[in-house]
Amino acid sequence: METTETIIPMPRIGDKAPEFKAVTTQGEIDFPADYSGKWIILFSHPADFTPVCTSEFITFASMQNEFTALHTQLVGLSIDGLYSHIAWLRTIKEKIEFKGLKNIEVTFPLIEDISMVVAKKYGMLQPGESTTKAVRAVFFIDPKGIIRAIIYYPLSLGRNFDELKRVIIALQTADAYSVATPANWQPGDDVIVPTAGSCGVAKDRMETKVEGVKCYDWFFCTKQLTLDQVNHPEASKK
Ligand code: BEZ
Repeated sequence: METTETIIPMPRIGDKAPEFKAVTTQGEIDFPADYSGKWIILFSHPADFTPVCTSEFITFASMQNEFTALHTQLVGLSIDGLYSHIAWLRTIKEKIEFKGLKNIEVTFPLIEDISMVVAKKYGMLQPGESTTKAVRAVFFIDPKGIIRAIIYYPLSLGRNFDELKRVIIALQTADAYSVATPANWQPGDDVIVPTAGSCGVAKDRMETKVEGVKCYDWFFCTKQLTLDQVNHPEASKK
């Protein structure tokens, strides 16, 4: 039998974040326009009242202030309706304790997506895993509404929220200082100077000493970037 369903391509890194209007636990939102000028983490959950998701919500909500300090808005999505969302968030606050975190109030918006319209737009439904439950997708969207990183986890694997925070800080650092971040980078570690794009620059890299920059070879130069510089990227623009 032929299907008339339109196939929407999954958004990719560098794409404009697909737009949508949705009902959430914090009222209606116009996405991403409502958060223009901020970073956004849009993340999906398979369903309400599920244990891994509950542990994730408690953890993310407990880190809300850390993300606000990074000018980052959290927006969740779960394939359930609004009243189910409200009941789930109330239960989390009233009854659930996870790793010593309890009485946690979720104040970021949770999108109702029982119709799966948004989940389909963002490629959050991956049929090999489930046709009715969104996988654990995470989209990192910059202040101009461009998707900058995407991470997908399967249903059984809870996300590492310290890693999500590290991704936001690394992207902001890369933008502010025109650098890249190496394997396992943590704020305060040395960063990578972009690879030389010409023979002249390659020669300069090896022959001219720059304070704080160490070149092991023309293509592999690291640079010190203090924790204070990482924490105050706006100072790089002065
Ligand atoms: C959970 O969040 O616990 C979960 C949801 C869907 C499938 C498996 C686990």
